[in-house]
Order: sequence, then structure tokens, then C-alpha cells
Amino acid sequence: MYQAPRGTQDILPDEQPYWNYVKSNARQVAHLYGYGAIETPIFEDTQLFLRSVGETSDIVQKEMYTFLDKGENSLTLRPEGTAPIGRAYLEHGLSNQPQPVKLYTIGPFFRYDRPQAGRYRELHQFSYEAIGEIDPALDAEIIAMSWDYLTRLGLRELSIQLNSIGCPICRPHYVEALREYYRGKVAELCLDCQTRLERNPLRLLDCKNRACNAVAESAPRSIDYLGEECSGHFQRLEELLHSLAIPYQINNRLVRGLDYYTKTVFEVYSTETGSQSSLGGGGRYDGLIEQLGGRPTPAVGFAAGLERTILNLKKQGITPPSRPGVVAFVASLGDGTEVAVSRLVAQLRAADIAALQSFGRRSLKSQLKHAHASGARFTLILGPDELATGRVVLRDMEKSTQEAVDQSTVVELLLKGVRGPTPNP
Ligand code: HAM
Repeated sequence: MYQAPRGTQDILPDEQPYWNYVKSNARQVAHLYGYGAIETPIFEDTQLFLRSVGETSDIVQKEMYTFLDKGENSLTLRPEGTAPIGRAYLEHGLSNQPQPVKLYTIGPFFRYDRPQAGRYRELHQFSYEAIGEIDPALDAEIIAMSWDYLTRLGLRELSIQLNSIGCPICRPHYVEALREYYRGKVAELCLDCQTRLERNPLRLLDCKNRACNAVAESAPRSIDYLGEECSGHFQRLEELLHSLAIPYQINNRLVRGLDYYTKTVFEVYSTETGSQSSLGGGGRYDGLIEQLGGRPTPAVGFAAGLERTILNLKKQGITPPSRPGVVAFVASLGDGTEVAVSRLVAQLRAADIAALQSFGRRSLKSQLKHAHASGARFTLILGPDELATGRVVLRDMEKSTQEAVDQSTVVELLLKGVRGPTPNP
């Protein structure tokens, strides 16, 4: 027997209401904020991610699904959505449109991560990016949008954590201070962090190892090293978040795992005990578009994990609105009714009544059982007698009553039954 690959999952019909709820909420929020949909390929040139996400990041070092195609091109299943959207922005000359260009996408991403609750190898994100504007009001908009996306679903107990990690002008001073601080403490660090110290010192701050955590407690804070421009940007962002009544906490150890960030970084967590994983994260990436070959172009964005959104909906007992199910099940009694059954079902569907029919030869009992399991409100039973008289038996499954009615009146009766008081045939 084959199984879905480790870290992936089938999303069966029973789960779909959650996915529909989360995706339609994401689209609604994107619409409210004026973000247009974009879809980019599932795989991209590997170099795109090496140059943007960063050679020393966990994603590039350990998590990419990279392969050579038959033409010997190195391709990678997209591990994230920002670099592909940046690539599309440049490729299609979107810099010639009024800025910022605001785009969103909903879809699958791939990371060779260690699977556990809320962590998959095929994951889904609602990811949105605003490219071409430096104003901190845009950072505030992106944060407000993430808050709206989560709270409109009914989620509670959320916390936005915010930090600024500066820009290429002020960050080197901070990185030097960090190295200085850590140099005397190398022996206390885990092996990963010992190599991070030279290659990617910011990541020392968010290591989950207990000993590293303790050392990070007293590490220098990036906000104390911001230059005038970055500091002003952060101050203005804080003012805007206050004025929008968006709750947040400053987290001096929030650095994010992708290398393209500048200035603002933020993540949204659930504060409920036991769920420490982030529901989403984002920030500013003012250098990315230039790194990909464009003109210097500021940008900011966010991505929410859909699996984690759904996990939290379930934890908080929030049930999605379900779609109306099947209304009618057409059962057949005996030979010669097949054509009439198919025609009746087609007639119902043409009138927008969701309908199922029975296939093959089954006893009435077994067909009624099937009708019941399908959730149909009504069962229509057609036998040779009904065929001869142009009638059909209409059974109300909720009330367990039934009556023979004229076939020509069925659509009207069912529509009344669905929309208004139950028909009384
Ligand atoms: P990220 O923090 O790598 O950011 O991912 C965003 C969200 O995707 C995470 O907070 C989490 O909810 C979800 N996620 C990540 N990895 C997994 C996984 N293995 N299983 C399940 N869910 C996962 C980015 O991807 C950036 N592109 C976000 C961004 C957009 N920054 C600027 N614009």
C-alpha cells in the first residue's frame, strides 16, 4: 500500500470546510486592502532562492527540494513566496505601474523540515507583498492585514511580536556588537550556534537550545543600534500601530530565518499554552528587488501558514460555516426506471438543486441508507408504478413522511422545501 509522502497530507472532503473558510477569508481581506491575486510557478530556478533567502539560512542549507531536470537545469520547489513574487515583479515590468504594487497568493510551498504537529514538508501559505514604497504606513498596513486575517476568522489569544533589525548601513555595527558579546561565550553554545557566530550571527538570538537561550537573554538589542533613518521608521510604525489599536509586543530577539529582511520584522503567535509555533511572519525587505537585478525598491510583506491557522481554529473550537449539502437523493425501484432517474436528477440540477442518484441495483432499504448518509433532505423514489402514472414518491427524510406527487411539481416543491416552509404534499 502506498502512503502520502512523509510531511504531506490529503485534505479529504470533511476537512474542506476549514480550508474553504480560511482561503475565502484570506481573499476577502486581500480584497479589502486592495491586493491583487498572483500565481507563480511551483518550481523556480534554484539561484533565485540562493540569492534571496540566503546561503546560510536553514531553508537553503537543509530544506530545499532541489533537482536537475532533463535539461540539466537546477530547479527548486518553491520554499517560500516572496522571492518568486519579486522575480515576477521584475520580469513583467510591474515597477512601471503605480507603486506600491500589492499582490497576494495562496498555495503550496515545500520545505524538507522535520514533520510534527503544525509542521509539514508540503505546507500552504497566504502570502502577500507590497512592493515599491518605503513609508512605514505600509508596514502598518501589512501588520493590520495579518491581524484582520486572523481575527476575522474568530481566533483569539494572539500576540504580534515586533522588532527592527536595521539596514545594511546600521546593521554591521550591531552584528559586530553581537559577535563581541558572543565571543567570550562560545563554549556555552550549541554546535550549530558556534558556526552561526561567523556565518549568520543574528540567528544566535532565536536558537531554541536552552543553553543558547540563556546566553541570548543578555545579548545586545538591535533597536539600540539603529541608524537615524531606521530608528525614525520604527518610531513612526509604533505610532501608527497605536493609532490603529493593534496590540503588539517588542521582541528584541525576533530576527526571522530568511536573509532578505531589513528594518521591520514581525511574527504572530498564539498565546495559548502548548502552541508556541508562529501562525505567520513577515517584514520589510528593501534590498531584495535590487539583489534580483532591479533598481533599489523598498518592499514589505507577510505570510500566514494555513495548516497552523486551521490547527488553531480547531484548538479554539471554531467551526467553519459549512456549505449547503445534498438536497435530494433519487432512488430507483426496479428495471426500466434508469432513464427516468437520470432525467429527474438532471432536471433537479438544472434548477440548482444539489442531487444524487442511486447507481446499480440495490434494495430500497440500502438506497435509503445511502440517502440518509448523504445528508439529503428529501428522497425521491421512482418505480414502475410511478413511471406509468407520471408521479414520484417524495420522502421527507427529517420527518420520515412520504407522499406520491406529480413529477411536474417536484422542482417547485423541493425549492419551497429548501427555501421556505416544508412542503406538505
Ligand atoms: P516564514 O516565516 O518562513 O516566512 O513562513 C511563514 C509561515 O509559514 C510561518 O509562520 C508558518 O505559519 C508557516 N510555515 C513555515 N514553515 C512551515 C512548515 N514546515 N509547516 C507548516 N507551516 C509552515 C516566509 O515564508 C516569508 N516568505 C514571509 C514573508 C512574506 N516575508 C515577507 N513577505
